[in-house]
Amino acid sequence: MARRKLVYEGKAKILYEGPEPGTLVQYFKDDATAFNAEKKDVIDGKGVLNNRLSEFFMTGLQRIGIPTHFIKRLNMREQLIRQVEIIPLEVIVRNFAAGSMAKRLGMEEGTQLPRPIVEFSYKDDSLGDPLVPEEYIVALGWASQQDLDDIIAMALRVNDFMAGVMHGVGIKLIDFKIEIGRVYEGDFMRLILADEISPDSCRLWDIETNEKLDKDVFRRDLGSLSDAYTEVARRLGVLPQNNAPSGKPTLVN
Ligand code: TMP
Repeated sequence: MARRKLVYEGKAKILYEGPEPGTLVQYFKDDATAFNAEKKDVIDGKGVLNNRLSEFFMTGLQRIGIPTHFIKRLNMREQLIRQVEIIPLEVIVRNFAAGSMAKRLGMEEGTQLPRPIVEFSYKDDSLGDPLVPEEYIVALGWASQQDLDDIIAMALRVNDFMAGVMHGVGIKLIDFKIEIGRVYEGDFMRLILADEISPDSCRLWDIETNEKLDKDVFRRDLGSLSDAYTEVARRLGVLPQNNAPSGKPTLVN
């Protein structure tokens, strides 16, 4: 069998050529990195959990009419996705101050914001993904004002969906990051949700205890990352084992 072609390798995922033009296979690695890969580790099973969780969120978002790159899960670690032209921006939505915002403004982490705030970072590891004002994005031609307005509207819809789903399982959605891609259909260009949505790219706190259930557990050495992600998956009912209650070996794809 011919070896499939690697299209791109990032810190947590690999993209391979897909079975048809315009598709890719997205493979979720167990690698965890933080602070622009200064801190690294391999967390057994993280890729399997993130593959499932991203599938869960993307399919839910599709059901409420948000277009995403997700086509179908292929196996434990891989999903078939639409190939997109990624806009080099991290679109961040914040409901509560935390992380870089709390640090920059000297705010206490967990302070509720008066309304969700959308911000953008320019995706460039060599620059450390700097925060960029909307005006830079339009002036430098990374996205038009119309695209940016559409991206903000999409990010806020994703936020409402994610915050609601999380609230239903006793989790506060503090903030999250998404990435948007362009797809071309004839003369038309559409913006669709791409990359992944997982506890790698969100901040998730238990509503009662404020226990962190996201990548901050790894960034800040707060305990077992796989326990935290497993807890999120368990609450959402998307643990791979859910399909195999008998304890007998079962195929989970
Ligand atoms: P920040 O507070 O560090 O700017 O992070 C905001 C959100 O973005 C948080 O949910 C974590 C997520 N994030 C990523 O997904 N990738 C990154 O490289 C960084 C820095 C943050």
